[in-house]
Amino acid sequence: MAQIEWNETKLSVGVLMFDTEHKRLISIINKLDEAMRQGKGNAVIAQVLKELINYTKTHFTHEERVMKQHNYPGLEVQLKEHKGFVDKIVGMERDLASGKAMLSLSVSNFVSAWIQNHIMKTDKASTKFLNAKGGK
Ligand SMILES: [Fe+2]
Repeated sequence: MAQIEWNETKLSVGVLMFDTEHKRLISIINKLDEAMRQGKGNAVIAQVLKELINYTKTHFTHEERVMKQHNYPGLEVQLKEHKGFVDKIVGMERDLASGKAMLSLSVSNFVSAWIQNHIMKTDKASTKFLNAKGGK
């Protein structure tokens, strides 16, 4: 998979602050993808992965807080997907650090496909609800 290009129709969830955060997530994912493609060493890749993990956690926490505030009925699905993704990327970081695995393009491909799928399906469903409530 190539780099993710922001596409308003495809990726905007209609809530400006989440779009802004998603754009930042995407730029980190693109950085990870580029580092892999350029065959950067594990140290560089581990650093970008760390950045991705940290920012993903910040963003997910923010989304979850807003959804809780508005009693979003699909919260459980969001929590489950978020946790699954964080566990997965933290696992990748661990495998990389322990030398158990070399990161390859399949990692950035997975991350890139996951985030786009999650935004288009799960996030859009929740922001549709939030926007209907008139709250952000
Ligand atoms: Fe989400």
